[in-house]
Amino acid sequence: MPIEQIHPMAAHFPIALLITSIFLDFLGFITKKDTFEKSAFHILVLGILGAVGAIIFGLIAEDVASKRPNIGETIETHETLAFITTGIFIALLIIRYIFMKKDNFQKIRPYYFIGALIGIILLFATARFGGQMVFEYGAAVSENILK
Ligand code: HEM
Repeated sequence: MPIEQIHPMAAHFPIALLITSIFLDFLGFITKKDTFEKSAFHILVLGILGAVGAIIFGLIAEDVASKRPNIGETIETHETLAFITTGIFIALLIIRYIFMKKDNFQKIRPYYFIGALIGIILLFATARFGGQMVFEYGAAVSENILK
C-alpha cells in the first residue's frame, strides 16, 4: 500500500480515542470512581500518539493531495487546525499529569472540561476540512475515477 494512503486510516484513532477519553472523564465525574479518571488519562495519551501519527502521515499525504486544483487553502486550514488541536491536547495532558500527581485533579476538572471541549470542537473542524478535501476536491481519489 502506498504510504500516502495511510493517513485516512491513522486519522480515525485520535478522533475515537480523544472523544473516548473525555467520555470516560464524564463517567468519572458522575460516578466519582477514579478508575474512569485513570483510564481517561491513558486513553488521552494514546489519542495524542494517534494524533502525532495522523500528522506524520498527513504531511506525507499532503504532497499528493496538493496536486488537486484549488485545494491549497483547505489543506492549509486542515493542517493548521490539526496542529492547534494536537497542541491543546498535549497541553491538557501536561496540566492533567501535574494535578493528578498532586492528587487534586478534581480542583481543575471544570477548566479541564472546557479545554477538552474546545479541543474536541477543533478536532471535528479538522476532520471536516479533511473530509472536504476528499469529497469536494477528490484528494486521495484515483485519477481514473475522477475522469
Ligand atoms: C490530528 C491530526 C489529523 C486528523 C485527525 C486528520 C483527519 C483527517 C480526516 C478525517 C480526513 C478525511 C479522510 C477521508 O475521508 O478519507 C483527512 C484527510 C486529509 N488530511 Fe488529515 N488529519 C490530521 C492531520 C493532517 C495533517 C497535519 C496534514 C498535512 C497537511 C493532513 C493532510 C490531509 C490530507 C492531504 C487529506 C486528504 C487526503 C487523504 O485523505 O489522505 N492531515 N484528515
